[in-house]
Amino acid sequence: MRAVVRDRYGPPDVLRLEDVERPLAKSDEVLIKVHATTVSRTDSALRAGVPFVSRFIGGLRRPRRKILGSDLAGVVEAVGTAVTEFKVGDHVFGINPWKFGAHAEFICMRAGGALAPMPAGMPFDEAAAVCDGAILALNAIRPARLRTGRRILIYGASGSIGTAAVQLARSFGADVTGVCYTGNIALVRSLGADAVIDSTQEDFTKNGRTYDAILDAVGNLTFSRCRGSLKPGGVYLATDGMQNLVLTLWTARIGDKRVRFPIPPKFTKQDVVFLKRLSEAGKYRVVIDRRYPLEQVVEATRYVDTKQKTGNVVLTVSRDART
Ligand SMILES: NC(=O)c1ccc[n+]([C@@H]2O[C@H](COP(=O)([O-])OP(=O)(O)OC[C@H]3O[C@@H](n4cnc5c(N)ncnc54)[C@H](OP(=O)(O)O)[C@@H]3O)[C@@H](O)[C@H]2O)c1
Repeated sequence: MRAVVRDRYGPPDVLRLEDVERPLAKSDEVLIKVHATTVSRTDSALRAGVPFVSRFIGGLRRPRRKILGSDLAGVVEAVGTAVTEFKVGDHVFGINPWKFGAHAEFICMRAGGALAPMPAGMPFDEAAAVCDGAILALNAIRPARLRTGRRILIYGASGSIGTAAVQLARSFGADVTGVCYTGNIALVRSLGADAVIDSTQEDFTKNGRTYDAILDAVGNLTFSRCRGSLKPGGVYLATDGMQNLVLTLWTARIGDKRVRFPIPPKFTKQDVVFLKRLSEAGKYRVVIDRRYPLEQVVEATRYVDTKQKTGNVVLTVSRDART
């Protein structure tokens, strides 16, 4: 089968398309023919081996896993002897965290993993982009216990995690303020944000408004900068930055404003099923910036590395990806 492989850490050019052996499903696994996948910020970090701490997951001196990619949508090609939940021909979507392998024509996944039947009527290329950003967003915002009457500010509301967080927070009933660059204001508003702040025109930390929760979906804010914009009892939700682990422990004991950085994030079947239902109910729409064929993985990766993508970047693996 064709797959995108790499033997070392480095820039996008370390990736190359190669013929490799097709994986074989173990008894509790399904073999999936991948129709579409994504290039995520996690793929970028693990490819580059930066920050260095990512190498504790990926392999210290060289990558342990040759094939990246964790989001996927495709069709079940074979099932292991112990699998009862899926059958050959089922259309499925999900995420294979930590093991990766979705940048390929076939992947094996545990049937009990973060995998579910595809949302009705959704094409493969959209289904492939549902899970990574949205499940990371769920992990990030859960500690805020959002509900009607609570206010959240989402910084980086146009990224993969941000576009998902805006919609999820709205679906939980919260009042949502998004922060993004001028060109993405209309998009963030269309996702349901109650208010949108143009980050080029206004510094939200200086406008006097306060929130129950602030989500940094860019990775360049700090708790100390946001503290004054949090209500008493408010929570700062981080997606990046090892200092936030220390602050999570520190603020759990001292002060009435907390930091939460859920790491490692959990990717569960329940969350994939939750997103399927939300999508089918019309309450969640995946945002796709660009689509590239698998052969153009280096170009796709270069674009993701700019950190300026809007929503998600999809890799189409088969000719049927848009059906
Ligand atoms: N915890 C985890 O396991 C995990 C996994 C993946 C990613 N992450 C982290 O989560 C964060 C977001 O990831 P993502 O996949 O959603 O990223 P993304 O899709 O690349 O989105 C980033 C967004 O940030 C905004 N942005 C970029 N540079 C900015 C700047 N200098 N100032 C303000 N805004 C800027 C951009 O929106 P505008 O152009 O509209 O401003 C862009 O849409 C990153 O820090 C990433 O490292 C964490």
